[in-house]
Amino acid sequence: MAKLGNFPPSGDYSFPYRDLVGAQVVVTGGRGTLGSALCRGFASLGAQVWSLDMSAVKPAHQTNPKIQQRVADVRVRDTLVDVQKEIARTDGLDVLVNAHGLQIRSDFAGCDEDTWMTLTDINLNGVYRSCQVFGEPMRTRGGAIVNIGSVNGVVVSGKGTPYGVQKAAVSHMTKIMAVEWAPLVRVNAIAPTAIPSGMTRDLFANPDYVNTKTQSIPLKRTGTEEDIVHAVMFLASSASGLVTGHTLMMDGGLSLI
Ligand SMILES: NC(=O)c1ccc[n+]([C@@H]2O[C@H](COP(=O)([O-])OP(=O)(O)OC[C@H]3O[C@@H](n4cnc5c(N)ncnc54)[C@H](O)[C@@H]3O)[C@@H](O)[C@H]2O)c1
Repeated sequence: MAKLGNFPPSGDYSFPYRDLVGAQVVVTGGRGTLGSALCRGFASLGAQVWSLDMSAVKPAHQTNPKIQQRVADVRVRDTLVDVQKEIARTDGLDVLVNAHGLQIRSDFAGCDEDTWMTLTDINLNGVYRSCQVFGEPMRTRGGAIVNIGSVNGVVVSGKGTPYGVQKAAVSHMTKIMAVEWAPLVRVNAIAPTAIPSGMTRDLFANPDYVNTKTQSIPLKRTGTEEDIVHAVMFLASSASGLVTGHTLMMDGGLSLI
């Protein structure tokens, strides 16, 4: 059984993610661009991955025996509970990564109530439900939770109002959970800048957007799937054993200026 959660890291620096080998990992939004990359990344380390998504099973994952796919909607608690019961019949869960999300761009004044409620139910309430359902058993066995927030939860971005509010709330929920669920569970988040994905396909199809965004970032590049996977692995493994309640900015310095 993997030992995850509150453990000091080993002094063998050659393979910092050693304790993720054999770990059981749930990735919500596991069929999305970043979720898929996370599933493949954890599976490549030898973890057993449970890929949850409201969308249909992804054929590319079907052949990977390390990735189990389940259809589950983070708006519907029972669909998460069904998967949790299945996992409970195994060694139990070590890592939860909340990588689901939906973006409908709107400013504050123009955001109608349906849009606000839909986005809140997925981007905020979905993280709350997933953490309660999958995190609860970790409180006695230990574990690590990583929530995917956004730089939009830290800086104000023109058309990202509802999403930004929800991502800010996810960061604060991360802090609260880190305190309430210590000492056995570590809870952290990441706050990435723009990354080419299903969510941003329309933006990245526009060369003007890519150019303006890239120039606005001090490191002069947007993010990649690999940036995300490495950061999540670090926060999930005991390489980050003393880190909890933290939101790791992954924005190339954008929020500093
Ligand atoms: N791409 C970016 O620029 C960017 C930047 C910062 C943060 N993020 C965050 O990264 C995470 C991954 O997003 P992505 O960029 O891979 O986008 P994506 O659209 O490719 O993936 C999102 C996935 O979430 C799933 N999903 C949506 N609603 C769901 C629900 N109710 N239940 C279960 N699954 C649901 C979708 O089916 C999809 O597979 C999200 O939390 C997103 O907010 C993305």
